[in-house]
Amino acid sequence: SGEREENETERGLRVSDKGFLNTAVITSEITYIDGEAGVLRYRGYPIEQLATQSNFLETAYLLIYGALPSSSQFASFEYEVTRHSILHVDTESLFRAFRYDAHPMAMMTSAFAALGSYYSEANPSLQGQTLYTKGDPQSIANMDKQIFRLIGKATTLAAMAYRVRQGRPFVQPPTGMGYTESFLYQMDHLTEENYKPSPVLAKALDILFLLHADHELNASCTTVLQTGSSLVDPYSAIATGCASLYGPLHGGANEAVIRMLISIGSPENVPAFVEAVKRREKVLSGFGHRVYKTSDPRSFIVRQIADEVFKVTGKDELLETAMLLHKIAMNDEYFIKRKLAPNVDFWSGLIYRAMGFPLDFFPVLFAVPRVVGWLAHWRQMMLQSGGVKIWRPRQIYVGSGKRDYVPINSRE
Ligand code: ACO
Repeated sequence: SGEREENETERGLRVSDKGFLNTAVITSEITYIDGEAGVLRYRGYPIEQLATQSNFLETAYLLIYGALPSSSQFASFEYEVTRHSILHVDTESLFRAFRYDAHPMAMMTSAFAALGSYYSEANPSLQGQTLYTKGDPQSIANMDKQIFRLIGKATTLAAMAYRVRQGRPFVQPPTGMGYTESFLYQMDHLTEENYKPSPVLAKALDILFLLHADHELNASCTTVLQTGSSLVDPYSAIATGCASLYGPLHGGANEAVIRMLISIGSPENVPAFVEAVKRREKVLSGFGHRVYKTSDPRSFIVRQIADEVFKVTGKDELLETAMLLHKIAMNDEYFIKRKLAPNVDFWSGLIYRAMGFPLDFFPVLFAVPRVVGWLAHWRQMMLQSGGVKIWRPRQIYVGSGKRDYVPINSRE
């Protein structure tokens, strides 16, 4: 049905693929997922090895540049990211302009976009379209600078979004602390003596950051590439990724899991909730994944971190409800048949809650590390041979055929 567009140029095979279930839009060397086997690798390294032996910032380097750094490469990367974590002082006015109860993801999205206004050298429309060219050291250095800035400033922006809601003054990024530690310091969260973040909790959050750093072409990464394909500056592209991540079917799921557990209330209500899910009256947040058709490998690591964190913070009162929900769902025919298992968000929300983060801050804890994945994919696309092709999918038109305009007074 529908009308064929006039002057249409046929180019290859056109398929209808709602939600991109089967469409590959790029070739990539960054992240490998085998959804049937539950395998996740960053640049070939199994996620389990990275989670136990690497740290977030080293993994960030790996994702972006394709190889584990030498000591001097890591030192230089850490120095550049830390050096660029400081924000222009005017950014404070931006944060103070938000309503007292603004959602932190709305603040983050706006702030990433606003950052672009400070760095004109990152804006191709001001500089000419060949801004980032493979093999041109000056252009690569320019690109790297934007990457350092975005990773460094992500924690500073997130800490500001956190503090502005409490009416507290902003804190400058400290020196001499690791990436995640510095983030906790700026929020003044999970601190022990002398405002130093708890090493156990900082390490737990660092591993969570590492696990969230990339997941190939999820909705937000695809959004970054879609936006980036118009050759816009990386701040604008990252802002759109942040907006996409905000949704409850994506990065908002960790927040949705806790709201779901609170609504269930206690373990005795779990069976009735599961039945409501099966009648499609409710969604089991934190279960299911577009790619994994078995358990998300990150969910096992997150479950272990939860135990470490609870030793320090005490158990979350929702844990028993979550464990029973997990047990019932994993043994229920409805979920087995549909290959629904926990994704990374099922347990991570409980950790964030035990750590005392406000519910609506959970997606920010996903967005901060995911900036790395977005940038790795954006860099890969910008430097691919043959240049960037604008992403412009096609549709199948099913609307009205040609009809003639009727003046307003003549309409029925
Ligand atoms: N609860 C109940 N049923 C579900 C769930 C769920 N969480 N997820 C999928 N299903 C059902 C669907 O109703 C569908 O059933 P049907 O075939 O009888 O119609 C079947 O399982 C297949 O699901 P789809 O919706 O086709 O799977 P899709 O790949 O489109 O969606 C998604 C994946 C969005 C993650 C989905 O599983 C979901 O909504 N999960 C809950 C939200 C969530 O946890 N999101 C986080 C994703 S991970 C991340 O962003 C880090």
